[in-house]
Amino acid sequence: MKYTNCLLLSISLAAMAIFITVDAKSQNSPIHWQKIANGVWKTEVGKPEKNNLLTIAGVGPKISAINKMSIAKFPLEENEIKVEVYDGKTYLRFPLNQNEKIFGLGLNFKTVEQRGRILRLHEDHYDGIDNGRSHAPIPFYVSSKGYGIFINSARYIDIWVGTGVRAESKNAPKARDRNTDPKWSASPYSDNVEILVPTEGVELYVFGGPSTLDAVSRFNLYQGGGSLPPKWGLGFWHRTPTLFNDSLLLNEVDGFTKHQFPLTVIGLEPGWQSKAYPCTYEWDSKRFPDPKGLINQLKDKGIYTNLWINPYISPESNLIKALQPYTASHTVWSGYVPDYSMKQTNTIIGNHLKKNLLDIGVSGFKMDENDGFDFWLWPDVAKFPSGMPAEIMRQTYGMMMQKLNTKLYRAENKRTYGLVRGTNAGATSFPFVIYNDYYSHRDFITALINSSFIGTLWTPEVRSSGSAEDWLRRMQTVCFSPIAMLNAWADGTKPWTFPEVEKEVAEVANLRMQLIPYLYTCFADYAFYGRPPFRAMNLVDGFTSNNEIKDQYMVGDNLLIAPLFTGETSRKVSLPAGKWYDFYTGKLAGEAEIITVAPGLAHIPVFVRNGGIVPMAVNNKVAEGKFDLVIRYYGNKETSYQLYDDDGKTFDYEKGVFSWRNIVVKKYPQGKLFGTISNAEKNKPDNIGNVTWEFKTN
Ligand code: GAL
Repeated sequence: MKYTNCLLLSISLAAMAIFITVDAKSQNSPIHWQKIANGVWKTEVGKPEKNNLLTIAGVGPKISAINKMSIAKFPLEENEIKVEVYDGKTYLRFPLNQNEKIFGLGLNFKTVEQRGRILRLHEDHYDGIDNGRSHAPIPFYVSSKGYGIFINSARYIDIWVGTGVRAESKNAPKARDRNTDPKWSASPYSDNVEILVPTEGVELYVFGGPSTLDAVSRFNLYQGGGSLPPKWGLGFWHRTPTLFNDSLLLNEVDGFTKHQFPLTVIGLEPGWQSKAYPCTYEWDSKRFPDPKGLINQLKDKGIYTNLWINPYISPESNLIKALQPYTASHTVWSGYVPDYSMKQTNTIIGNHLKKNLLDIGVSGFKMDENDGFDFWLWPDVAKFPSGMPAEIMRQTYGMMMQKLNTKLYRAENKRTYGLVRGTNAGATSFPFVIYNDYYSHRDFITALINSSFIGTLWTPEVRSSGSAEDWLRRMQTVCFSPIAMLNAWADGTKPWTFPEVEKEVAEVANLRMQLIPYLYTCFADYAFYGRPPFRAMNLVDGFTSNNEIKDQYMVGDNLLIAPLFTGETSRKVSLPAGKWYDFYTGKLAGEAEIITVAPGLAHIPVFVRNGGIVPMAVNNKVAEGKFDLVIRYYGNKETSYQLYDDDGKTFDYEKGVFSWRNIVVKKYPQGKLFGTISNAEKNKPDNIGNVTWEFKTN
């Protein structure tokens, strides 16, 4: 009896052990995809952490906008997706087809197509290699087959994008003899994306298409849609040298008037504070004895003030007494590191910013150095009072700073637009643009392209140049980016620094101002429909190319930008299907082909699609109140376009206080084109004065 019991017990223990082992490996667990909106599916594998990118961002999805998109089917074979929790980590596998291209996975600077790459997504200042260390280590990828995958984890994530070859693969490459077979390859064909998340579970999302742009738009809408900057944010920005004082600043502003350059935002760098690195967040009373007066003076000239900060608080700041209990175990540059995951921290810093800065008219911030550089940042062994692990802090710190900032301005019903160096998924609706210290013009454009896959914004800011040519080429591209900015913090450059190209720089800066109605509509598209304002060619419907396109991009649906870089006198441009026209002359440039252009130094090549409408302001006062409009039309087909407008500065648009003006171009029976624009609806914003038309194509 005793023996039997013992035997039974050991049999059942053995059975349990077998059961437990099987469970721990949980090979091929069935996945229950929950459809949460049209074309959005979610599942939980194992036990996901409570802190993930979306909970930290604290944003909600725009479900009704997603549901209004075209119907999307689950885009993958469900049984080809494999998930497994093993060894305390989550293993994920998604299928890849033969010719499928993969985009996204952080803000890359040298590559657009990610298939064949191995990445560890890790928040960092970009250091010249696309290895996952990124200002925006966003764990989202989108496929040329028109779907997206999002891993909602705030951890460092490893991804093998079409590199791992599984023994059981249906498409396993055949073994070749390297001695004799010229087709032998060191990277044989792989048919999957494999992902390792260092936690015992994770939340996963699949975003359907049908197009690649649809998948990106759903991802963006799922995070609350894109940001809508104030109109002034889309003007021209200038950041002054670190140690400028009030009179130098006013003098600089006068220079803009004298040289007939537009200016809507002036940025003050660290020297506005009494101490920086670490920061006091308090004005330096010698350099800026009357900040409120200065800000008002600037405001009277239509100029908004943006202030630089970094997160690390000086022991000499008045903030520190209250804040210290909510700071980390480690310091950065001897400054305290606030734990932004805590309510107290947000209240203390939020109240300080509001009382001392927002309330005197500061329009926004540049939030620097929240991205990393291992040698000065807190290490991953640091402890934060909330208990949030340092790794999660690192991945989300810049995002949490954006969240507080966004909330502060929203509470005043004022829109802000600012700069940040670190971000992650969840922050799409926060009105911040990424920049950095890496200064390759060509790579800056690749980053601008890549930002469009992952729900972020990037500026190829201009600082200094070794030649007038480089100066002008950089100025031309920054004027076709989310923030047209000269960052003269170190070099004291001014837009007119190279007199030999001053006229051309002024021309493109003024063009930027005139394009604000078009750009603002692109951003409204981002906010309402999730469609990125600046986007990769790979997001153009039907566009295919055998080449990786890293140096041309779209602004909205209608403008194609093909920058030239120093030393180039001509370049190739891949035109998508349909006819494309030269922006400046209206002449036909080509159709679904690769053309070569040699535009000279004065212009950045810009092309407009057939039927493309480009609404432009007649002068550059568009950011404030009423403006006259000139509607440019290119091509020869009937078309329509929706022009967005609202007050340009508050959140009233979220309550319906906006208008879409319907612009239509039709043909008279004898073939001549004519255009009309609808009136603003009754009691809706109406900032458009006189309207004139320019039919650019004869
Ligand atoms: C850098 C930043 C620059 C400038 C500088 C001021 O980290 O990228 O744009 O703000 O700090 O010290």
